Amino acid sequence: MAAPKTSASRKLARVREQLPCLAHYLPLNVGTSGPLPRAAFEAMEARAQQELLSGRHRPDEGPALQERRELLRRALGRVINAPPGSLALTHHTTDGMNIGTLAFQWRPGDEAITTTIEHVSGLLPLATVRDRFGVTVRFAEVGMGGGDVAGAIAALITPRTRLISLSHVSYSTGALLPLKEIVAVAHRQGIPVLADAAQSAGAIAVDVQDSGVDLYALPGQKWLCGPEGTGALYVRPQLLPELRLTFAGYASLSHTPGVSSHDQAGHYIPQPTAQRFEVGAMSWPLLAALEGSLAWLEGEVGYAWAWGRIARLARLAKDSLAAIPGVTVLTPNNMAGLVSFRMERVDPAAAVAWLWERGYQIRSIPELACLRVSTGFFLSEEELARFCAEVERLARERPPAAPQSPQAPIPGA
Ligand SMILES: Cc1ncc(COP(=O)(O)O)c(C=O)c1O
Repeated sequence: MAAPKTSASRKLARVREQLPCLAHYLPLNVGTSGPLPRAAFEAMEARAQQELLSGRHRPDEGPALQERRELLRRALGRVINAPPGSLALTHHTTDGMNIGTLAFQWRPGDEAITTTIEHVSGLLPLATVRDRFGVTVRFAEVGMGGGDVAGAIAALITPRTRLISLSHVSYSTGALLPLKEIVAVAHRQGIPVLADAAQSAGAIAVDVQDSGVDLYALPGQKWLCGPEGTGALYVRPQLLPELRLTFAGYASLSHTPGVSSHDQAGHYIPQPTAQRFEVGAMSWPLLAALEGSLAWLEGEVGYAWAWGRIARLARLAKDSLAAIPGVTVLTPNNMAGLVSFRMERVDPAAAVAWLWERGYQIRSIPELACLRVSTGFFLSEEELARFCAEVERLARERPPAAPQSPQAPIPGA
């Protein structure tokens, strides 16, 4: 006899109905892309239809479209408690990390600090300023990210340190880094902090104002379940005057009606807000889709409900996986929605393929020779138990290693 439905299970069922891909496979790789909800698809389709049938950029819709962009910035702002005017729309996390890193007036001999558990999206902009401006990049050795990360960073600060750039949640180990503590250490020395929010925005409660972080780069397509090609960069308003534009275009300019976008000397006047980091046209169907996802998350799912479930399911996954013989969990106790684990004598790429054949989508992290599972809010406890049972079976049966494909020089998402 089926167990009677509680209001919690009815709510989960309602949420899951909006994610049609759950009928086909279990998306346990939200850290790369979250499942698309119906609301996002419908909004994207409606906008694309409108463009197809009624035309694009019609003179009668200009102000309304700009208003939509502002509503989207504000909806994204509510996810991380960012005040109006502090967000620029971007195309992904990587955009924000590049804009943020390149916004400083770098000089030869300047230094930047990052950690040893970073994604290339943060590392490559640092490599760019190293190669172009002679900046030294220092790496805080933080192991899996479970120890004194703020202390490891503090030990590398010198009078030449100009930026601390790191992930709020490490994509590889799943560690949730103590952002507020790191910012406090940095700000004591007048150093700004740029954080990669790919694995935190939409996965955990974030308050950029409380943490004091200066720049926070987030994606739309991961824990916020938006489409690829969307994201945002938060800029602490007080820092704005110190930053420079690397990319600039008409969207960076002040558009106050009746006010010139140039000063008397003929210089451009940028937007007074973080919007100055926007450059030009963006895809309206994609922006509409992200708006649809956020409206669904905020209005029907509820952020607090989603974040509570993600945290509980991640702990459950960590404990259940750790109990499997031959499995070692790498994620420390300070964690968010990612759990990384190694399987003795099991090739990670072969394990990903084996699990995919059984309907479970996870990813491997080649740098750590491990697997990574993301616990989305839509996942049921039974599904997680079934997934762990498959991992246990895999640990016992050990599939043959997949044919070695050439390793990409840069690890992917
Ligand atoms: C920590 C981290 N940063 C950056 C990225 C890249 O994200 P995006 O595709 O939004 O640039 C990812 C994952 O893809 C990530 O996990």
